[in-house]
Amino acid sequence: MDTAQSPDQRAKLVIDQLTLDEKIQLVHGVGWDVLMKGGHGAGIADYNFGAGYVPGSKRLGIPAINLADSAVGIALGAIQSRYSTLLPSVLGLASSWDPEAAERYGALIGLELREQGFNMSIGGGINLAREPRDGRTFEFSGEDPLLAGATVGNVIKGVQSQNVMGDIKHYALNDQETGRMGPGGTAGFNAVIDRRAAHESDLLAFQIAIGIGHPSGVMCSYNRVNGVDACESPWLLTQVLKKEFRFKGWVMSDWGGTHSTVAAALAGLDMEMPGDKYFGSALKHAVQAGKVPMSRLDDMDYRVLRSMFAAGVIDHPVVPRAVVNPFAGRRSAERIAEKSMVLLRNEGGVLPLNASGVRSIAVIGSHADVGVLSGGGSAQVDPPGGNVTTPKPGRPGWNEVVYFPSAALEYIRQHATHAHIAFNAGTDVVAAVALARKSQIAIVFVNQPMREGMDRPSLGLPGNQDALVSAVAAENPHTVVVLETGGPVTMPWVDKVQGIVEAWYPGIGGAQALANLLFGNADFSGRLAITFPRTDSQLPHPQIAGLTPAMYGTETGASPLSHKPFKEFDVDYNVAGARVGYKWFESKNLTPLFPFGYGLSYTSYAFSGLKVAADGSAARVTVKNTGLRAGTEVAEVYARLPKASGEDYQRLVGFDRVALAAGESKTVTIPLNDLCLSIWSTQKHVMERVRGTYTIMAGSSSSSTPLKATFVVAR
Ligand code: BGC
Repeated sequence: MDTAQSPDQRAKLVIDQLTLDEKIQLVHGVGWDVLMKGGHGAGIADYNFGAGYVPGSKRLGIPAINLADSAVGIALGAIQSRYSTLLPSVLGLASSWDPEAAERYGALIGLELREQGFNMSIGGGINLAREPRDGRTFEFSGEDPLLAGATVGNVIKGVQSQNVMGDIKHYALNDQETGRMGPGGTAGFNAVIDRRAAHESDLLAFQIAIGIGHPSGVMCSYNRVNGVDACESPWLLTQVLKKEFRFKGWVMSDWGGTHSTVAAALAGLDMEMPGDKYFGSALKHAVQAGKVPMSRLDDMDYRVLRSMFAAGVIDHPVVPRAVVNPFAGRRSAERIAEKSMVLLRNEGGVLPLNASGVRSIAVIGSHADVGVLSGGGSAQVDPPGGNVTTPKPGRPGWNEVVYFPSAALEYIRQHATHAHIAFNAGTDVVAAVALARKSQIAIVFVNQPMREGMDRPSLGLPGNQDALVSAVAAENPHTVVVLETGGPVTMPWVDKVQGIVEAWYPGIGGAQALANLLFGNADFSGRLAITFPRTDSQLPHPQIAGLTPAMYGTETGASPLSHKPFKEFDVDYNVAGARVGYKWFESKNLTPLFPFGYGLSYTSYAFSGLKVAADGSAARVTVKNTGLRAGTEVAEVYARLPKASGEDYQRLVGFDRVALAAGESKTVTIPLNDLCLSIWSTQKHVMERVRGTYTIMAGSSSSSTPLKATFVVAR
């Protein structure tokens, strides 16, 4: 094949040579019923034991597509005794506000996929956190379209830098798990939202990420949007995604999310996954009967083949069974974890701990003696050696709460070599308090397990953890809480403890990163990518829409129904509209527990000299490290749009991480995202700026923007 030609030309050449059967074969996967017959994947030589498989064509030199879930590392490894690195949660990554870290994150996933024989990643979750109790909040990148788009776009860029195809999901508005599927396997909930609000929130996140990462695939979601199945929506798939966003790759359905042949094909769905119920012989007959034009089938094939050429999976076919380098992966995971953790409270400068001065530390709770928590569902990475809390052979079950071998106790001991350090599991509050009472410092680890398929019924920490923290804090004035949570949680004890660290699900290097931060060998540079509400009642939906107590079992337990509703229901996203997260809080004049963009550091910073370009393309601001040690501040730039926008909230429009030595100042120029300065014109169907005065603000969080400047859009 002539590699001098463009991916477009090469794809078209192949399509000219495909038979109708070959064209059909390329637009659906091989179902699990077939893959599982006679054992997992038995009989299909080049199936690589991932979540999906699309056969290739030996005749034309087109390899099979082997897809693996890989949101935070590669899933399903244990089946093949394969190792893969568990990275921090995507929400943690987003909280680093670091596009380079995101690219490194993606490149590591891409490299390990390739080494394991996969040529496509399915990760790239970017559903905005409208519902922070969504069981997949840890897989997604927070509540802001710009930060989420920059994070996921760069992850995809990283994946594809390894000649592995990337995808982005779940398109669109699949912002909760409750009712994502109904009892019959079709959509359970219908997201109701105005087009302008959708374009300025969830769709904008996709638009920004697609513009940065150019993913090969977009996965459409299980739910309905404004009454139409997301995988059957001409508006979402063809008009918005393919025409307005100029997406060149292909749309695949979420697993089991295709529900028709003609309607889905004409709406713009390009591939049924994982099987062939609608896009196998049914599609062939529909094409033969003229119900789906051949040109539409050719377009589906073109999109798949062009993406394969563009990502390099045809020129650089995977040669499976290289050995993943666990040490390199762990180092990257640790470095990213260090940037992702957020210091939420540090009264009296309890942190950093003085490694040589501290005499005794009580380490309490959340299995901190053996490991760190990971997120479940299809994003679950299998831990090396099995779940450290309940070691047993095989891969962990879907409902299992899985801990990875990265033990905070061990690394705290390595730092404070002279201190007496003891562990208490935290299950017996009286015993935990007794240990805390006789220790100089008490570090209480708390957790909030999350997984695909079910939401958390509330933002409260599960089990007895609030009582545990309160009881320990009542006895020990130097209590530090470490949160291992998938998303935000409420903290009734917030004023009673001296220190609070949000560690997220920190990945295989998590405990090392945490210990480095606790002892001040590294500084906290993470800033919240999601608002922490004070109570569930502050949310647009105080209770998760459609969730009834009958749908979940125990608070921490798994739902036998996987939150499937008994009948379909609407979720009214117009309650918040485009005001997701901090925008909602501002417009409703609510004070959160911790605002979006917030995070402390061991040093302090001052902002000055904000200037904005006359055309609003960039802002310049000076950041000074006013403290005594080096650190990295995130400069956050927000905008208030002219009155004509009708908006009563600010939007994030740009940001930059600024590394500063003690006393150092830097003036940085931060590009402002044009889409984030625009509104969706319901008449013209484009994003456009509003006439009038824009106020640009800069500072250290959504609730601390002391500097203001303006620019005017005259026409
Ligand atoms: C999930 C997707 C996942 C797919 C394949 C679905 O249930 O929603 O995110 O990629 O399964 O495992």
